[in-house]
Order: sequence, then C-alpha cells, then structure tokens
Amino acid sequence: MTKEYFYTIQSWFEGYIKKFHSDDPAFQRNIELKRNHSRRVWKNAADLGKSISLSENDQLIIETSGLLHDVGRFEQFKRYGTFSDNKSVNHGWLGVEVIKKKEILRVLEKEEREDVYTTILNHNKKKLPGDKNERQLTFIKLIRDADKLDIWRMVTDYYCSHGETNNTLQLDLPDEPYVTLKNIDDLLKGRLVDLRNLHTLNDFKLLQVGWVYDLNFERSYEILEEKGYLTKIFSSLPDTEEVKQVREKIMEYMKKQGTGTRA
Ligand SMILES: [Fe+2]
Repeated sequence: MTKEYFYTIQSWFEGYIKKFHSDDPAFQRNIELKRNHSRRVWKNAADLGKSISLSENDQLIIETSGLLHDVGRFEQFKRYGTFSDNKSVNHGWLGVEVIKKKEILRVLEKEEREDVYTTILNHNKKKLPGDKNERQLTFIKLIRDADKLDIWRMVTDYYCSHGETNNTLQLDLPDEPYVTLKNIDDLLKGRLVDLRNLHTLNDFKLLQVGWVYDLNFERSYEILEEKGYLTKIFSSLPDTEEVKQVREKIMEYMKKQGTGTRA
C-alpha cells in the first residue's frame, strides 16, 4: 500500500460523509461527531503505530483501519437513528459491508484487505478473537486502544460541559444518580463491565472506567494519563463509598502500568 493510496481513501471517506448531510441539526451533529471521531482514531492509530515501530506498509494499513473503523456508523444512524448496536445492527459488520460494496480497497493486496476487514470486525467486540495471527492481533489491539482513547475524549468533553443532553452519546440511558452494584463488583474484581448491566448513565461511565483493563500498549496508558480522562470521569460520578473503592482499585492498576493516575 502506498501513501498516495491512503490519501485516495481519505478523500473517498470525506466525500462519503458529505452524502449524509442533513438540515436537521441533531442528525447533523451526530454525523459530525462520528466524522471527527474517525479522524481522531486515525491520528491515534498513527501515534500508537509509531510507538511500536510498525513497517511503513503496516503503518498505512493501521491508519486506514483507524479512519474506516466506524464507517458503518453513518449508514447505521441513517437507517435506524441510533448508535446502539443492540437496537440496530453490528456497526463493524455494516462498515465492512460498505467498504466491500464501494470497493474502496480494490487496489490493496488481498491479504491487506483482509487485515483491514478483520481489524474493523473486531474493534467493537467484548474480547479479542482467539483465532487470529500475531500480526492481525497487533492491528486489532491497536485500533481498540486508539478507539477507546478517542471515546474517552468525547465523553469527558460531554460529561464536563454540562450542555444539552445528547441521548445518542449516552446510549439513551437515564441520567439518574444510581450505579448498578454488579458493575462495581466487576470492576473491583478486575473485570470489564458487562454491556447487559447498563441501566443508568453512571453505569456507562463505569464501563468506560473499566476499559483501563483492556488497553494493550504502553503508549495508550501514557496518553490516558496525560489527558486525565479517568480523573474527569470520576469527578462526574457520585461521591459514594463504592465509587471511591473503584477509584482506588483503578489508581492502583494504573500505577502497575507505570503511570500514576491523578484520579
Ligand atoms: Fe466503533
């Protein structure tokens, strides 16, 4: 793959998004949210790729995967009016369908195309797949980290802005002052929060806190620490004994990764 071809993909992507333009400001805001997210995940992927010194070709594959990882989101929102996969379709799967239909990657080698598809299909799964080779696993891990880092940016901006409620950003969950104790228990045991146990916006925040257990690269922990995302999420959670316990546990975990969080 060449740098020139990456630019072709990039301009296809920008043109594709323009087709979803709407005069409805709420709709348009969500399209722009995902466009900006895609661009930033590309940038994060580039940063993480450099931190592990990928070959020039693999660096371009990973940047392509970053830019296109959520390409299914636009069609998903247009068709179903939601970003909830549970209420619509798997957006990773839909994204690969869009790429195949539009033949965006036709110039790439077959193996390179498969690498991008596999990465996109696994970016939003709860666990890493067990049946991929080392190279593909590195790509998948990298995009999963790049994605989480930008979701943390988006949600912390949202939680700290106290602006208008955006139901799509909070998965239509009610902003009630409760947390589900099962989620606290999972985090204290070093486990991720289960999507099925999300009942309030606070539960969703706990799920995002738990992503620290699912990061794969030193550079990802470094960025997380630099940006202070965990501190911001904790400051928007209720000040209860359970939340304090989780904060301590997470702080300890971050220390073991070589960074001391300010949470
Ligand atoms: Fe995604």
